[in-house]
Amino acid sequence: MNNQTPHVEPIRLVVVPDVLSMAARGADEIEVVLKDAAQPVLGLATGGTMEHLYPELIRRFQAGKISFRNATTFNLDEYYPIEATHPQSYRCFMGEKLFNYVDLTLTPVEGARWGQTFVPNVGGEHVGAVCLGYEQAIIKAGGIDVQILGIGKNGHIAFNEPGTSPWSRTRIVKLAENTREANARYFGSSADVPEFAVTMGISTILEADKIVLLASGEGKAAAIKRALTGPVSADCPASYLQLHPNVTFIVDRAAARDLALP
Ligand code: PGA
Repeated sequence: MNNQTPHVEPIRLVVVPDVLSMAARGADEIEVVLKDAAQPVLGLATGGTMEHLYPELIRRFQAGKISFRNATTFNLDEYYPIEATHPQSYRCFMGEKLFNYVDLTLTPVEGARWGQTFVPNVGGEHVGAVCLGYEQAIIKAGGIDVQILGIGKNGHIAFNEPGTSPWSRTRIVKLAENTREANARYFGSSADVPEFAVTMGISTILEADKIVLLASGEGKAAAIKRALTGPVSADCPASYLQLHPNVTFIVDRAAARDLALP
């Protein structure tokens, strides 16, 4: 290939039979980075999909196959406002689902950073300073080696809702009503879901060396189809992933339902 020709690899699609295989394939991607990189930098996500991935990582850690000792982690997003100690905060989610069970240090340092882990908690700090500081911390860590993503039914990635600019960076956003409804199951009602969040932007996400998106279930089928085969458009923020040279979608058969597969 002519080196001067811009070339974007198509998104790699891996269709697996079920959600457990999705978790295992996702864990493989993280395992490679943990083993290959001297100072691995992981981009992590929250949500129901990740509740399948993290137990698999804990199993591999307990089996002595992987260690997070030299890793730094950056989560995609956090509600705003929310206390880090709130049971539905993403800081708490990560502690309960992964951080407390592996060899990561968690000493609170400042709002976003606890030991080796970053979640964009604002706490009492200025939100703009937290957003800028988050971007700077990612750069200081050397950039993200692998970014794990889920996908919303509306095509959002992190809390980048439809309408998001491809140039967006870490910032405060207003949650879409359908996102608040989707997350009402955790808070009791959609009215109790915070109205805002701090989220990495599309540009922030696209700077990761590698991106791995996980999805399971028929509810995600339409979003997966639009992300993979639709136009690159703000209507489906996940479609921006078509612009990145190293993206893998790992989806179960139900989430692949709308794709024309051989
Ligand atoms: P879910 O959320 O894993 O709970 O379906 C994914 C997302 O909204 O990004």
